[in-house]
Amino acid sequence: MIVFKTRWSSPSNIAFVKYWGKRDIQIPQNSSLSMTLSNCFTDTEVHLVKNGSGKINTFAFADNQDEFSEKPDFIPRIQKFIDYLIESYKKFNFSVLKSYDLEIKSRNSFPHSTGIASSASSFSSLSLCLVDLVSRIEGKSFELSNELQEIVSECARLGSGSASRSVFSNFAIWGENSHQFSNSFATEFNSYDQYFSGLCDSVLIVHSGVKTVSSSVGHKLMENNPFANIRYQTANTNLMDLIQAMKTKNLQDFIYIMEKEALTLHGLMLTSGDGYLLLQPGSLDIINKVRMFRNETGCFITFTIDAGPNIHLIYHQDDKDLITNFINEELLQHCHNNQVIHDQIGKGPLRLEAR
Ligand code: PMV
Repeated sequence: MIVFKTRWSSPSNIAFVKYWGKRDIQIPQNSSLSMTLSNCFTDTEVHLVKNGSGKINTFAFADNQDEFSEKPDFIPRIQKFIDYLIESYKKFNFSVLKSYDLEIKSRNSFPHSTGIASSASSFSSLSLCLVDLVSRIEGKSFELSNELQEIVSECARLGSGSASRSVFSNFAIWGENSHQFSNSFATEFNSYDQYFSGLCDSVLIVHSGVKTVSSSVGHKLMENNPFANIRYQTANTNLMDLIQAMKTKNLQDFIYIMEKEALTLHGLMLTSGDGYLLLQPGSLDIINKVRMFRNETGCFITFTIDAGPNIHLIYHQDDKDLITNFINEELLQHCHNNQVIHDQIGKGPLRLEAR
């Protein structure tokens, strides 16, 4: 019998300053700053069933418009995460979950094949559901206060580092830097020029499918990367410089830091382990065309790249028509099946229903 249920959607985020390298339980080696997205999100529903033992009975998953199907192979990672919260996380009373079993349904708004990382949106929406359910088992009404946002962010981080930043609207920072911010959870970043609240992100899908080297392997390989220490220092400097550029609307510095961060991430891959490359020829064509277009038009447009071949175009909504035209005319030809996902800065998680 279902005794409690809740449903939350939480967005994905795109890092401007990258988290790449970790220690202990998802403690980042440097601080990172991201923009919360809007259209790319995960919608998760959790039902609690009476007389259980904190185990996941069923996990159903759907991509985009597809039908739900049972995914028993997804359960072990999520069960491990829930077991950790129940047994070892002391700041919140997850142990009450031990009296129930869980039925989970999760849907991504974006197709899996696009290579957009779903771990950030998945773990943040799941963490929101769990914190919400524990509050209600304890008879408390659930409001996402600043204090609970910190708890949710910390829990999400334990599932996947970048998920810690998905709990906030607009921009978030995670990782200690110059005696500010925290390694345990992310914080919303508010002090930027309002121009940046109009940012868009069009994701050009150069190649879809599973990556040859996963992010978790990538983080691990940083342990023996000869440039690791200088990278961690530079990332922290880049973050402070980016904050300054966003405060003062210094678009030239903003572009410089964004692109340096994106290309450094892939440089680190080239110098990790045997050396690997996730970029594709199409990724490089797009980068070159974006830089040429910027030089020719003077338009504010830049790019960032996640741990994959797809290029995120970052620009202002006022230039949407011009950029859409540029994408259609010049860039779509480098995309797999002409695929592009148009997204923009977002307002963060949303509670969909509860009982
Ligand atoms: O959260 P993870 O373990 O999937 O790592 C994310 C790493 C990057 O997406 C490449 C960078 C970032 O800060 O999101």
